[in-house]
Amino acid sequence: MIKKCLFPAAGYGTRFLPATKSMPKEMLPIVNKPLIQYGVEEALEAGLSDMAIVTGRGKRAMEDHFDVNYELEHQIKGSDKETYLEGIRYIMDNCTFSYTRQVEMKGLGHAILTGETLIGDEPFAVVLADDLCLVESDVGVLSQMVKLYKQFRCSIVAIEEVPMDEVHKYGVISGEMIRDDIYQINTMVEKPSTEEAPSNLAIIGRYILTPDIFDILRNTTPGVGGEIQITDALMQQASEGCVLGYKFKGRRFDCGSVHGFVEATNHCFKSLEEQR
Ligand code: G1P
Repeated sequence: MIKKCLFPAAGYGTRFLPATKSMPKEMLPIVNKPLIQYGVEEALEAGLSDMAIVTGRGKRAMEDHFDVNYELEHQIKGSDKETYLEGIRYIMDNCTFSYTRQVEMKGLGHAILTGETLIGDEPFAVVLADDLCLVESDVGVLSQMVKLYKQFRCSIVAIEEVPMDEVHKYGVISGEMIRDDIYQINTMVEKPSTEEAPSNLAIIGRYILTPDIFDILRNTTPGVGGEIQITDALMQQASEGCVLGYKFKGRRFDCGSVHGFVEATNHCFKSLEEQR
């Protein structure tokens, strides 16, 4: 059913300069694992096996991360250090990676459209790796959304309530509540002011998209910030058909901000200590 997961990963990560001057922000580690690997693991757990990554200049480290490193692996063979590579080996044995480059930075909608060549004509998931989503159960956020897609067969965005003074950082939705955790969306605004926001339900970086989104994106004119916004394309899909907002079960860390990044690090460190 849904096999492919798109990772828009061409952004500069300016909020983490100088760390991100030559290193992709997706490679910033939360404890000992880069952000992009958390995203890939979440996708794999949801049953997706084709990882499609939209990269840009200076992002080679990501491709190398999901590849063998013969010298290193030869060096540590037979030692206990090999266990550190078990997670990444599992990923490499169970999924494929394909890459395409976004040459110009024209927004998230443009990044997703750039990924069309890797996705084709089928429904797919999108993960923004700097939104780290952790769950207490073993059903990840994408897994929850894939299950919902099987039932509703339309585009779905993950949403969560945020304080009103933070709505300007997000795409914000409102709609009709059709289950206590599902909204059928009728309004979506990208980065609204507090006054313009239709609610405090913010979109976070997990999407399931039907492939008609590509044609819509091709015709979407630049919106907020002069960028092609996925939120605007989804609003069109919602007005012509159906888009759902899903209040996921789990906790999201905004690892695109230093504050969220440190919070995620502390959270993961604590869980690791508890497991020992
Ligand atoms: C993007 C989307 C926005 C969404 C957010 C989630 O914004 O445009 O609608 O709420 O991701 O993280 P960005 O954070 O790239 O500015």
